[in-house]
Amino acid sequence: MEELTTQNKNEKTIFVTGGAGFIGSNFVIYMLKKYPNYKIVNLDSLTYAGNLENLKSVESNPNHIFIKGDITDVKLIDGIFETHDPNYLINFAAESHVDRSIENPAVFLDTNIKGTQVLLDISKKYWLDSMYQGEYKYLQVSTDEVYGSLGETGYFHESTPLAPNSPYSASKASADLFVRAYHETFGLNVNITRCSNNYGPYQFPEKLIPLMISKALEDSNLPVYGDGLNVRDWLYVDDHCVAIDLVLHDGKPGEIYNVGGHNEKTNIDIVKIILQELNKPESLINYVEDRLGHDRRYAIEPQKIKEELGWSPSVMFEEGIKKTIQWYLSNQDWLYKVKNGDYKNYYDLLCSRTVK
Ligand code: NAD
Ligand code: DAU
Repeated sequence: MEELTTQNKNEKTIFVTGGAGFIGSNFVIYMLKKYPNYKIVNLDSLTYAGNLENLKSVESNPNHIFIKGDITDVKLIDGIFETHDPNYLINFAAESHVDRSIENPAVFLDTNIKGTQVLLDISKKYWLDSMYQGEYKYLQVSTDEVYGSLGETGYFHESTPLAPNSPYSASKASADLFVRAYHETFGLNVNITRCSNNYGPYQFPEKLIPLMISKALEDSNLPVYGDGLNVRDWLYVDDHCVAIDLVLHDGKPGEIYNVGGHNEKTNIDIVKIILQELNKPESLINYVEDRLGHDRRYAIEPQKIKEELGWSPSVMFEEGIKKTIQWYLSNQDWLYKVKNGDYKNYYDLLCSRTVK
């Protein structure tokens, strides 16, 4: 009997949004393996970036429930809270690509700002305005881009003023301010994580690393923006998942945690490493027009999450990039289906299987 009580105490339901995207799908897989008593309700609208094939390995796991839908849909989110009574909500869902935000900012406001506000509002309704007694938390997965751009030196700290430069980062910063406001005004238990550039399996080949791997594999030109000397601080996606897990369980109410690994690289260095690993010539490198408003350098100082929660990255870039390239080489079918659009049919296939 006592054993059963302990087990019940360990049962939690996490409402994950955007769990068919790059980081979200890695996180869902990681959590289902680590916590066999947790249920994950995974809501994703399956935009171009959402890919159910990412979740194939957990497709038949009874602890994983996938729902296709939009985070701006108030009725749907309300129904998910009503039905599944989640303990935690982790919001990964976003429009995430800077170049797309320069082309078409409007959808970034809808998903990244309005969507976040809807999730906060329904969280407040079920966790604060009702008789809810359990443990709960709203966790917003944000980005270091909200701090803007660094020069040659210095690091982003949690207290660095927000200075977003792209429509994407402006929408993420706005969302962060709503999360803060729901904590300050209503007392909602929230955390915000602000992570540096992730890389690893299942990243959509519009982002630097998978795009360059994909182009190199087909012997196409690799488009490097500007002088190629912009710097990003790269973190292997599993290390990000561990950080989110720690913040979810042990992060102090209302706090922001920066996540990054002191793995700073220029874009051109990364492109050259990829070409070398794939045994392709540097003549494939093609310097192209710079991104508008291109942030020069990002670098995180992760002291707070190290000291408070004991997190530090376990995968250094030299190891992580090899693992990542190897993953894309071994999963060329995944890449192929993304490029030719076939991955979009997978949802229909799954639905037809369920009906049968
Ligand atoms: P992604 O673009 O790969 O995935 C986003 C997912 O959200 C997709 O599955 C998409 O279908 C879903 N989605 C989009 N709009 C939606 C909506 N309105 N309703 C429901 N689902 C919707 O993004 P990612 O790289 O996995 O990033 C996940 C989160 O982490 C984002 O919030 C992003 O801002 C943040 N982040 C990303 C990085 C990075 O390097 N990729 C770094 C720091 C923070
Ligand atoms: O820092 C965290 C952020 O990292 C996340 O919040 C974003 O969701 C994620 O997309 C990423 O933003 P970046 O703009 O840094 O990532 P991206 O992969 O688009 O570009 C990385 C760098 O490479 C950047 O300096 C632009 C450059 N680049 C990118 C592409 C797609 C090129 O030179 N050529 C390219 O074709």
